[in-house]
Amino acid sequence: MYFHQIKNFPKNQRFKTQHPDFILPASPILYETFKLDYQKYFQSGQDAAIWILTQYKKHSNKPLQDLLDWGCGPARIVRHLPEIVPNEVKITASDFNSDTINWCAKHISGIRFIVNNLDPPLEGVNSSFDLIYGISIFTHLSKKRHQLWFTELNRLLNKDGLLLFTSHGQAFFKLLTDYEQKLFSQGNLIVRGHSKEGRRIFSTFHPPAFIQSILENNGFEVLEHISGSLDHNLPHQDIWIARKK
Ligand SMILES: C[S@@+](CC[C@H](N)C(=O)[O-])C[C@H]1O[C@@H](n2cnc3c(N)ncnc32)[C@H](O)[C@@H]1O
Repeated sequence: MYFHQIKNFPKNQRFKTQHPDFILPASPILYETFKLDYQKYFQSGQDAAIWILTQYKKHSNKPLQDLLDWGCGPARIVRHLPEIVPNEVKITASDFNSDTINWCAKHISGIRFIVNNLDPPLEGVNSSFDLIYGISIFTHLSKKRHQLWFTELNRLLNKDGLLLFTSHGQAFFKLLTDYEQKLFSQGNLIVRGHSKEGRRIFSTFHPPAFIQSILENNGFEVLEHISGSLDHNLPHQDIWIARKK
């Protein structure tokens, strides 16, 4: 973390000068979920918020009333939503990291923040969401928790509600060992679980066939699968959009 802090210091100082009112999370909270790059935290979050709403409008006829950012981290995406959705839209965001949620609740307004456990259920909310998104959450969970959370996310959605999430798909193949590549090619989930589940270092890789099948077995219809590209040799995550049947 300190290396990145020092490397990005000049550009982060520039960002702070240009955006004096933009409240930033402390480095350990940001580093756990993203790069220590304030401009990217701001811009990628705003772009993602706008893109997710565009996808909702593209795939749903129902006006958006109730949405959930599951695994919101330090609000990179969700903090932009109050400015871009109508006032009556209810915005909820959850994470299992209570430090992150405490920071969010203290600094970001217009959103209900809740701590959830690593395992479902998500307590204290109605099962009436029109849209749930989870960006880079399944990428840090074991196979057992994939099953538990797909069931839970389905329960939390209204009928025809949309689920949008990301996975480590084929673009990450090159990062796998020969043995892992063999298993991945056979459609098996690859879990590098040498650290605490749900944390940054715990990494999971998803053959598209695995995601397709777990969605279908949990009452979802796949609407879109956008394969992650390789950008200057850096892999991007796959994006999945599914509808509750
Ligand atoms: C890579 S970060 C992504 C954060 C945020 N979605 C974003 O795109 O900036 C992964 C987040 O998932 C959270 N997380 C991991 N397992 C979770 C679970 N079972 N329920 C809720 N959040 C979880 C972590 O605490 C972390 O904030």
